[in-house]
Amino acid sequence: MRIVVVDPSDAAAVAALHRIYVTVGQADNPQTFVAAPVAEIREVLAAPTARFEFTAFLGFAGDEPVASGWAALGRRDAPHLAYLTPRVLPQQRRRGHGSRVLAAMERHAATHGRTLLLSTAVWAAEHGPDGSGSAPVGFAAARGFRLAHTSVRLKLELPTDRGRLDALLAQRAARRAGYTTRSWVGPVPQELLAGWAVLHAMLSEDEPHGELERPAETPDPDAIRDDERILAESGRVKVNAAVLSPAEALVAFSSILTRISAPDAAFQQGTVVDRNHRGRGLGALAKVAALRLLEETRPDITAVVTENAQDNGHILELNRAVGCVPVLYSGDFQRHLTAPAAPH
Ligand SMILES: CC(C)(COP(=O)(O)OP(=O)(O)OC[C@H]1O[C@@H](n2cnc3c(N)ncnc32)[C@H](O)[C@@H]1OP(=O)(O)O)[C@@H](O)C(=O)NCCC(=O)NCCS
Repeated sequence: MRIVVVDPSDAAAVAALHRIYVTVGQADNPQTFVAAPVAEIREVLAAPTARFEFTAFLGFAGDEPVASGWAALGRRDAPHLAYLTPRVLPQQRRRGHGSRVLAAMERHAATHGRTLLLSTAVWAAEHGPDGSGSAPVGFAAARGFRLAHTSVRLKLELPTDRGRLDALLAQRAARRAGYTTRSWVGPVPQELLAGWAVLHAMLSEDEPHGELERPAETPDPDAIRDDERILAESGRVKVNAAVLSPAEALVAFSSILTRISAPDAAFQQGTVVDRNHRGRGLGALAKVAALRLLEETRPDITAVVTENAQDNGHILELNRAVGCVPVLYSGDFQRHLTAPAAPH
Protein backbone atom coordinates (compact mmCIF):
# COMPACT_ATOMS: atom_id res chain seq x y z
CA MET A 1 0.00 0.00 0.00
CA ARG A 2 1.26 3.47 -0.92
CA ILE A 3 0.62 5.95 1.92
CA VAL A 4 0.89 9.71 1.41
CA VAL A 5 0.50 12.71 3.71
CA VAL A 6 -2.39 14.86 2.47
CA ASP A 7 -1.40 18.32 1.23
CA PRO A 8 -4.27 20.62 2.33
CA SER A 9 -3.96 22.60 -0.92
CA ASP A 10 -4.47 19.40 -3.00
CA ALA A 11 -8.24 19.54 -3.57
CA ALA A 12 -8.43 15.99 -5.01
CA ALA A 13 -6.62 14.49 -2.02
CA VAL A 14 -8.79 16.40 0.49
CA ALA A 15 -11.92 15.30 -1.41
CA ALA A 16 -10.76 11.64 -1.32
CA LEU A 17 -10.09 11.93 2.41
CA HIS A 18 -13.56 13.36 2.98
CA ARG A 19 -15.17 10.67 0.80
CA ILE A 20 -13.59 7.87 2.88
CA TYR A 21 -14.59 9.60 6.12
CA VAL A 22 -18.22 9.96 4.95
CA THR A 23 -18.46 6.42 3.48
CA VAL A 24 -17.08 4.83 6.65
CA GLY A 25 -19.25 7.03 8.91
CA GLN A 26 -22.43 6.18 7.01
CA ALA A 27 -21.58 2.46 6.95
CA ASP A 28 -20.53 2.00 10.58
CA ASN A 29 -22.63 4.65 12.26
CA PRO A 30 -25.83 5.06 10.24
CA GLN A 31 -27.89 6.27 13.18
CA THR A 32 -25.80 9.18 14.40
CA PHE A 33 -23.13 10.08 11.83
CA VAL A 34 -23.14 13.69 10.66
CA ALA A 35 -20.22 14.60 8.43
CA ALA A 36 -18.05 17.58 9.22
CA PRO A 37 -17.95 19.68 6.05
CA VAL A 38 -14.98 19.33 3.71
CA ALA A 39 -14.20 23.02 4.36
CA GLU A 40 -13.54 22.26 8.01
CA ILE A 41 -11.24 19.35 7.15
CA ARG A 42 -9.22 21.54 4.78
CA GLU A 43 -9.12 24.40 7.25
CA VAL A 44 -7.79 22.45 10.24
CA LEU A 45 -5.22 20.66 8.07
CA ALA A 46 -3.93 24.00 6.78
CA ALA A 47 -3.46 25.65 10.18
CA PRO A 48 -3.39 24.26 13.72
CA THR A 49 -6.17 25.06 16.15
CA ALA A 50 -5.52 26.23 19.70
CA ARG A 51 -5.44 22.65 21.01
CA PHE A 52 -4.39 20.44 18.06
CA GLU A 53 -2.19 20.15 15.02
CA PHE A 54 -3.73 17.85 12.38
CA THR A 55 -2.15 15.65 9.71
CA ALA A 56 -4.06 13.38 7.33
CA PHE A 57 -2.89 10.31 5.42
CA LEU A 58 -4.29 8.51 2.38
CA GLY A 59 -3.62 4.85 1.63
CA PHE A 60 -3.84 3.67 -1.99
CA ALA A 61 -4.50 0.20 -3.37
CA GLY A 62 -3.20 0.71 -6.91
CA ASP A 63 -4.54 4.16 -7.87
CA GLU A 64 -7.57 3.88 -5.63
CA PRO A 65 -7.67 5.67 -2.23
CA VAL A 66 -9.09 2.99 0.10
CA ALA A 67 -7.93 4.02 3.56
CA SER A 68 -7.30 7.19 5.51
CA GLY A 69 -5.59 8.25 8.68
CA TRP A 70 -6.38 11.28 10.80
CA ALA A 71 -3.75 12.29 13.35
CA ALA A 72 -4.32 15.06 15.87
CA LEU A 73 -1.27 15.97 17.92
CA GLY A 74 -2.06 17.75 21.17
CA ARG A 75 -0.63 21.22 21.78
CA ARG A 76 -0.42 23.32 24.94
CA ASP A 77 -1.56 21.01 27.79
CA ALA A 78 -1.00 17.82 25.78
CA PRO A 79 2.39 17.76 24.03
CA HIS A 80 2.70 14.00 24.75
CA LEU A 81 -0.59 13.00 23.12
CA ALA A 82 -1.66 11.89 19.66
CA TYR A 83 -5.24 11.03 18.66
CA LEU A 84 -5.13 8.60 15.73
CA THR A 85 -8.07 7.46 13.60
CA PRO A 86 -7.58 4.92 10.81
CA ARG A 87 -10.49 4.38 8.42
CA VAL A 88 -10.80 1.69 5.76
CA LEU A 89 -13.57 1.47 3.13
CA PRO A 90 -15.94 -1.36 4.15
CA GLN A 91 -15.24 -3.59 1.12
CA GLN A 92 -11.46 -3.23 1.62
CA ARG A 93 -11.21 -4.49 5.20
CA ARG A 94 -9.24 -7.43 6.64
CA ARG A 95 -6.43 -6.95 4.13
CA GLY A 96 -4.01 -5.19 6.47
CA HIS A 97 -4.79 -1.65 5.19
CA GLY A 98 -5.91 -0.40 8.62
CA SER A 99 -2.73 -1.74 10.22
CA ARG A 100 -0.51 -0.06 7.64
CA VAL A 101 -2.19 3.34 7.94
CA LEU A 102 -2.07 3.08 11.72
CA ALA A 103 1.64 2.19 11.61
CA ALA A 104 2.31 5.28 9.44
CA MET A 105 0.48 7.44 11.96
CA GLU A 106 2.33 5.85 14.87
CA ARG A 107 5.65 6.69 13.20
CA HIS A 108 4.43 10.26 12.71
CA ALA A 109 3.45 10.44 16.40
CA ALA A 110 6.77 8.96 17.54
CA THR A 111 8.73 11.37 15.35
CA HIS A 112 6.91 14.19 17.11
CA GLY A 113 7.83 12.84 20.54
CA ARG A 114 4.40 11.47 21.45
CA THR A 115 4.20 8.81 24.15
CA LEU A 116 0.45 8.26 24.53
CA LEU A 117 -1.77 7.29 21.60
CA LEU A 118 -5.55 7.59 21.80
CA SER A 119 -8.26 6.56 19.40
CA THR A 120 -12.05 6.70 19.45
CA ALA A 121 -14.47 4.46 17.55
CA VAL A 122 -18.12 3.41 17.63
CA TRP A 123 -19.78 -0.01 17.50
CA ALA A 124 -23.35 -1.27 17.30
CA ALA A 125 -25.38 -1.85 20.48
CA GLU A 126 -25.52 -5.61 19.79
CA HIS A 127 -21.79 -5.89 20.69
CA GLY A 128 -22.46 -4.63 24.22
CA PRO A 129 -20.37 -2.15 26.25
CA ASP A 130 -17.13 -4.12 25.85
CA GLY A 131 -17.59 -4.25 22.05
CA SER A 132 -16.76 -7.94 21.73
CA GLY A 133 -16.93 -9.10 18.13
CA SER A 134 -16.87 -5.55 16.71
CA ALA A 135 -14.25 -4.38 14.18
CA PRO A 136 -12.73 -1.52 16.21
CA VAL A 137 -12.35 -3.59 19.40
CA GLY A 138 -10.83 -6.56 17.48
CA PHE A 139 -8.54 -4.25 15.53
CA ALA A 140 -7.48 -2.21 18.58
CA ALA A 141 -6.61 -5.39 20.49
CA ALA A 142 -4.58 -6.69 17.53
CA ARG A 143 -2.66 -3.39 17.32
CA GLY A 144 -1.81 -3.11 21.04
CA PHE A 145 -4.50 -0.61 22.07
CA ARG A 146 -6.58 -1.13 25.20
CA LEU A 147 -10.23 -0.12 25.59
CA ALA A 148 -9.95 2.41 28.42
CA HIS A 149 -13.47 3.78 28.55
CA THR A 150 -16.90 3.26 27.01
CA SER A 151 -19.60 5.84 26.34
CA VAL A 152 -23.21 5.47 25.26
CA ARG A 153 -24.52 7.44 22.32
CA LEU A 154 -28.17 8.43 22.55
CA LYS A 155 -30.66 9.98 20.17
CA LEU A 156 -33.58 12.28 20.87
CA GLU A 157 -36.24 12.53 18.18
CA LEU A 158 -37.75 16.01 17.82
CA PRO A 159 -40.14 17.61 18.53
CA THR A 160 -39.70 17.08 22.25
CA ASP A 161 -42.62 16.08 24.43
CA ARG A 162 -43.77 19.34 26.02
CA GLY A 163 -45.47 17.72 29.00
CA ARG A 164 -42.44 15.54 29.71
CA LEU A 165 -40.05 18.50 29.75
CA ASP A 166 -42.43 20.59 31.86
CA ALA A 167 -42.62 17.72 34.39
CA LEU A 168 -38.81 17.55 34.48
CA LEU A 169 -38.53 21.29 35.10
CA ALA A 170 -41.13 21.13 37.86
CA GLN A 171 -39.03 18.61 39.80
CA ARG A 172 -36.58 20.91 41.60
CA ALA A 173 -38.13 24.26 40.81
CA ALA A 174 -38.32 25.32 44.46
CA ARG A 175 -34.52 25.04 44.82
CA ARG A 176 -33.84 27.46 41.99
CA ALA A 177 -35.30 30.71 43.33
CA GLY A 178 -33.34 33.68 41.97
CA TYR A 179 -31.57 31.70 39.19
CA THR A 180 -32.24 32.93 35.66
CA THR A 181 -31.65 31.48 32.20
CA ARG A 182 -30.34 33.19 29.13
CA SER A 183 -30.30 31.52 25.73
CA TRP A 184 -28.93 32.53 22.34
CA VAL A 185 -27.68 31.25 19.01
CA GLY A 186 -23.99 31.78 18.17
CA PRO A 187 -20.80 32.73 20.02
CA VAL A 188 -20.64 33.10 23.79
CA PRO A 189 -21.23 36.76 24.73
CA GLN A 190 -17.99 38.41 25.83
CA GLU A 191 -19.22 39.04 29.38
CA LEU A 192 -19.87 35.30 29.86
CA LEU A 193 -16.70 34.04 28.16
CA ALA A 194 -14.37 33.72 31.19
CA GLY A 195 -17.03 31.86 33.20
CA TRP A 196 -17.84 29.67 30.20
CA ALA A 197 -14.16 28.62 29.88
CA VAL A 198 -14.06 27.71 33.59
CA LEU A 199 -17.21 25.56 33.27
CA HIS A 200 -15.88 23.98 30.06
CA ALA A 201 -12.73 22.84 31.92
CA MET A 202 -14.87 21.63 34.85
CA LEU A 203 -16.96 19.53 32.47
CA SER A 204 -13.83 17.90 31.08
CA GLU A 205 -12.47 17.24 34.57
CA ASP A 206 -15.65 15.91 36.16
CA GLU A 207 -17.02 13.60 33.45
CA PRO A 208 -16.03 10.03 34.29
CA HIS A 209 -13.33 8.73 31.97
CA GLY A 210 -12.47 5.29 33.28
CA GLU A 211 -8.82 4.38 32.74
CA LEU A 212 -8.42 6.89 29.95
CA GLU A 213 -5.41 9.14 30.61
CA ARG A 214 -6.62 12.50 29.43
CA PRO A 215 -4.80 15.76 30.01
CA ALA A 216 -6.43 18.17 32.44
CA GLU A 217 -7.96 21.09 30.56
CA THR A 218 -7.08 24.54 31.85
CA PRO A 219 -9.75 27.22 31.33
CA ASP A 220 -8.91 28.86 28.03
CA PRO A 221 -11.17 31.58 26.57
CA ASP A 222 -8.97 31.74 23.44
CA ALA A 223 -9.61 28.05 22.72
CA ILE A 224 -13.38 28.64 23.04
CA ARG A 225 -13.14 31.50 20.52
CA ASP A 226 -10.91 29.38 18.26
CA ASP A 227 -13.51 26.59 18.19
CA GLU A 228 -16.22 29.15 17.40
CA ARG A 229 -14.15 30.55 14.53
CA ILE A 230 -13.73 27.08 13.00
CA LEU A 231 -17.45 26.36 13.39
CA ALA A 232 -18.43 29.66 11.76
CA GLU A 233 -16.06 29.11 8.86
CA SER A 234 -17.51 25.66 8.22
CA GLY A 235 -21.15 26.72 8.36
CA ARG A 236 -22.03 25.53 11.84
CA VAL A 237 -23.47 27.30 14.83
CA LYS A 238 -24.19 26.50 18.47
CA VAL A 239 -27.52 26.94 20.21
CA ASN A 240 -26.79 27.73 23.84
CA ALA A 241 -28.43 28.19 27.20
CA ALA A 242 -26.74 29.53 30.32
CA VAL A 243 -27.94 29.71 33.91
CA LEU A 244 -26.97 32.69 36.06
CA SER A 245 -26.94 32.55 39.86
CA PRO A 246 -28.76 35.13 42.01
CA ALA A 247 -25.36 36.93 42.11
CA GLU A 248 -25.38 36.85 38.28
CA ALA A 249 -22.43 34.46 37.96
CA LEU A 250 -22.52 31.92 35.14
CA VAL A 251 -23.15 28.58 36.89
CA ALA A 252 -24.42 26.20 34.19
CA PHE A 253 -24.58 25.85 30.44
CA SER A 254 -25.79 23.52 27.75
CA SER A 255 -25.06 23.83 24.05
CA ILE A 256 -26.15 22.06 20.89
CA LEU A 257 -24.24 22.13 17.62
CA THR A 258 -26.13 22.55 14.34
CA ARG A 259 -25.33 23.00 10.69
CA ILE A 260 -26.68 26.28 9.36
CA SER A 261 -27.78 25.06 5.96
CA ALA A 262 -28.74 21.43 6.64
CA PRO A 263 -31.36 19.68 8.77
CA ASP A 264 -28.86 17.00 9.90
CA ALA A 265 -29.12 15.73 13.45
CA ALA A 266 -27.80 18.30 15.91
CA PHE A 267 -25.13 17.31 18.45
CA GLN A 268 -25.40 18.01 22.13
CA GLN A 269 -22.00 19.49 22.95
CA GLY A 270 -22.06 19.47 26.70
CA THR A 271 -24.13 20.24 29.75
CA VAL A 272 -22.40 21.26 32.94
CA VAL A 273 -23.28 22.75 36.32
CA ASP A 274 -20.75 24.48 38.58
CA ARG A 275 -19.78 22.17 41.48
CA ASN A 276 -21.06 24.69 44.05
CA HIS A 277 -24.51 24.84 42.48
CA ARG A 278 -25.33 21.18 41.84
CA GLY A 279 -28.48 19.46 43.17
CA ARG A 280 -30.86 22.25 42.09
CA GLY A 281 -31.85 20.84 38.71
CA LEU A 282 -29.83 23.50 36.87
CA GLY A 283 -28.56 20.94 34.33
CA ALA A 284 -32.16 20.11 33.40
CA LEU A 285 -32.97 23.81 33.25
CA ALA A 286 -30.08 24.59 30.89
CA LYS A 287 -30.68 21.51 28.73
CA VAL A 288 -34.40 22.16 28.32
CA ALA A 289 -33.79 25.85 27.54
CA ALA A 290 -31.25 24.93 24.83
CA LEU A 291 -33.58 22.28 23.36
CA ARG A 292 -36.51 24.66 23.28
CA LEU A 293 -34.48 27.38 21.59
CA LEU A 294 -33.29 24.80 19.05
CA GLU A 295 -36.87 23.77 18.29
CA GLU A 296 -37.99 27.39 18.03
CA THR A 297 -35.20 28.50 15.73
CA ARG A 298 -34.64 25.28 13.75
CA PRO A 299 -37.94 23.44 13.24
CA ASP A 300 -36.31 21.61 10.30
CA ILE A 301 -33.97 19.61 12.59
CA THR A 302 -35.53 16.28 13.55
CA ALA A 303 -33.06 14.79 16.07
CA VAL A 304 -30.35 15.56 18.63
CA VAL A 305 -27.51 13.12 19.29
CA THR A 306 -25.69 13.05 22.60
CA GLU A 307 -22.95 10.97 24.20
CA ASN A 308 -22.39 10.14 27.86
CA ALA A 309 -19.88 8.04 29.76
CA GLN A 310 -21.59 4.71 30.49
CA ASP A 311 -20.88 5.24 34.20
CA ASN A 312 -22.20 8.81 34.29
CA GLY A 313 -25.50 7.79 35.84
CA HIS A 314 -26.68 11.30 36.55
CA ILE A 315 -26.55 12.70 33.04
CA LEU A 316 -27.82 9.43 31.54
CA GLU A 317 -30.83 9.67 33.81
CA LEU A 318 -31.40 13.29 32.77
CA ASN A 319 -31.12 12.41 29.09
CA ARG A 320 -33.54 9.50 29.46
CA ALA A 321 -35.96 11.82 31.28
CA VAL A 322 -35.82 14.19 28.30
CA GLY A 323 -36.63 11.27 25.95
CA CYS A 324 -33.19 10.20 24.62
CA VAL A 325 -32.83 6.56 23.53
CA PRO A 326 -29.45 4.70 23.49
CA VAL A 327 -28.42 3.69 19.96
CA LEU A 328 -24.74 2.62 20.04
CA TYR A 329 -21.49 2.59 21.99
CA SER A 330 -18.37 4.67 21.59
CA GLY A 331 -15.00 3.56 22.96
CA ASP A 332 -11.79 5.37 23.85
CA PHE A 333 -8.70 3.25 23.21
CA GLN A 334 -5.19 3.98 24.36
CA ARG A 335 -1.68 2.72 23.90
CA HIS A 336 1.59 3.84 25.48
CA LEU A 337 4.28 4.30 22.89
CA THR A 338 7.50 3.20 24.47
CA ALA A 339 9.46 1.98 21.47
CA PRO A 340 9.30 3.09 17.83
CA ALA A 341 6.39 1.45 15.98
CA ALA A 342 7.35 -1.65 14.01
CA PRO A 343 7.17 -1.28 10.24
CA HIS A 344 4.28 -3.22 8.75
C1 LIG B 1 -10.99 -0.81 12.38
C2 LIG B 1 -10.53 -0.73 10.92
C3 LIG B 1 -9.64 0.52 10.72
C4 LIG B 1 -9.71 -2.00 10.60
O1 LIG B 1 -9.19 -1.89 9.28
P1 LIG B 1 -8.70 -3.22 8.50
O2 LIG B 1 -7.98 -2.77 7.30
O3 LIG B 1 -9.86 -4.13 8.32
O4 LIG B 1 -7.70 -3.85 9.56
P2 LIG B 1 -6.55 -4.95 9.29
O5 LIG B 1 -6.88 -5.73 8.08
O6 LIG B 1 -5.24 -4.25 9.33
O7 LIG B 1 -6.73 -5.86 10.59
C5 LIG B 1 -5.66 -6.18 11.49
C6 LIG B 1 -6.16 -7.12 12.56
O8 LIG B 1 -7.15 -6.44 13.37
C7 LIG B 1 -8.14 -7.40 13.80
N1 LIG B 1 -9.45 -7.05 13.21
C8 LIG B 1 -9.69 -6.18 12.19
N2 LIG B 1 -11.02 -6.15 11.92
C9 LIG B 1 -11.61 -7.02 12.77
C10 LIG B 1 -12.96 -7.45 12.97
N3 LIG B 1 -13.95 -6.98 12.20
N4 LIG B 1 -13.20 -8.34 13.94
C11 LIG B 1 -12.21 -8.83 14.69
N5 LIG B 1 -10.89 -8.50 14.54
C12 LIG B 1 -10.61 -7.60 13.59
C13 LIG B 1 -7.69 -8.76 13.27
O9 LIG B 1 -6.85 -9.32 14.24
C14 LIG B 1 -6.89 -8.33 12.04
O10 LIG B 1 -5.96 -9.29 11.64
P3 LIG B 1 -6.46 -10.53 10.70
O11 LIG B 1 -7.30 -9.96 9.60
O12 LIG B 1 -5.17 -11.12 10.20
O13 LIG B 1 -7.25 -11.43 11.59
C15 LIG B 1 -11.76 -0.71 9.97
O14 LIG B 1 -12.67 -1.73 10.35
C16 LIG B 1 -12.49 0.61 9.97
O15 LIG B 1 -12.19 1.49 9.17
N6 LIG B 1 -13.48 0.78 10.88
C17 LIG B 1 -14.19 2.06 11.00
C18 LIG B 1 -13.32 3.16 11.64
C19 LIG B 1 -12.77 2.72 12.98
O16 LIG B 1 -13.49 2.17 13.79
N7 LIG B 1 -11.47 2.97 13.19
C20 LIG B 1 -10.77 2.37 14.31
C21 LIG B 1 -10.40 3.24 15.39
S1 LIG B 1 -9.64 2.24 16.66
